[in-house]
Amino acid sequence: MRGVHVPPVLVIGATGRVGRAVVAQLLGAGVPVRALTRRPDAAGLPAAVEVVAGDLTVPDSLDAGLQGVGAVFLLWTAPPGTVPAVVERLALHAQRVVFLSSPHRTPHPFFQQPNPMAALHADIERLIATAGLASTIIRPGIFASNALHWWAAPIRDGDVVRWPYGAAETAPIDERDIAAVVARALNGDGHAGGDYVLTGPESLSQAEQVNIIGAVIGRPIRFEELSPEEFRRETAGRWPGPVVDMLLTAWRATIGRPALVTSTVADVVGSPARTFRQWVADHASAFGDAQRVTESETRRDSS
Ligand SMILES: NC(=O)c1ccc[n+]([C@@H]2O[C@H](COP(=O)([O-])OP(=O)(O)OC[C@H]3O[C@@H](n4cnc5c(N)ncnc54)[C@H](OP(=O)(O)O)[C@@H]3O)[C@@H](O)[C@H]2O)c1
Repeated sequence: MRGVHVPPVLVIGATGRVGRAVVAQLLGAGVPVRALTRRPDAAGLPAAVEVVAGDLTVPDSLDAGLQGVGAVFLLWTAPPGTVPAVVERLALHAQRVVFLSSPHRTPHPFFQQPNPMAALHADIERLIATAGLASTIIRPGIFASNALHWWAAPIRDGDVVRWPYGAAETAPIDERDIAAVVARALNGDGHAGGDYVLTGPESLSQAEQVNIIGAVIGRPIRFEELSPEEFRRETAGRWPGPVVDMLLTAWRATIGRPALVTSTVADVVGSPARTFRQWVADHASAFGDAQRVTESETRRDSS
């Protein structure tokens, strides 16, 4: 409505996978966005976004960005020491917070393995509740975009993915679907107190996911099963030990069970969650498809 001041939404983690998609959704809905980052010069966000500097490990640095905000989107990948001070500050300034957590309360073996990330998420949720902030807790399962970090390089460079627990099933969720739910919770009514477990629409084994990537880019990719020990050796020095432990434990625990699939994306957003195949099609160039296209274009151009 003309003349009505709409307070900005502060997006923490705005330069990350989910945060960028949240920014896009909010801008698309006409909501003013303020984005927090440690490096404003490198943020690469749309011009319509007000970019502010801030660091979750330095709580004072958040004060300027919190002035006059309505809602806050919070995610936490920083060291945990300053969580209480940050939540206290959010409660002083914001009307509500939408927190990106994980399904650590869901009684499915994949989500029930104790790990430091689940403990941190539970802690942040408890502090948000104690601070009396109106909140919505968003609990996505495995992100589809993990496939970029895990498998894009070997697929670009060859035709084999070497990986453990090929039979472990997950229901990868597209970060745009997480963001669509987050944006509704930040900008819509009726989501205070909401606790949303989000998944993709289908249970797929890790080997099936790799097959789907091959099918979409038009090149068969072989899944070569690694033992957990081999995987530990291959990731040593490159991946944090607790992350490797968390993944191996969760994959092992879920063997023989289909992944949890929820309808929450469709329930909140009104359209079904995107399939993993759709996600791959939209990111095919990251798996080397661009090269295939370029080669065929080169052949066509020279014929
Ligand atoms: N991957 C999965 O399958 C999965 C599943 C469920 C839940 N999750 C949760 O999802 C979250 C990660 O989301 P994501 O993948 O979108 O993140 P991401 O791509 O790793 O990006 C991290 C974001 O956090 C910001 N950040 C990091 N340290 C900061 C600090 N000290 N102060 C201010 N901002 C800081 C970064 O901003 P700057 O660098 O610009 O400052 C960046 O925007 C984690 O909490 C994870 O536990 C992940």
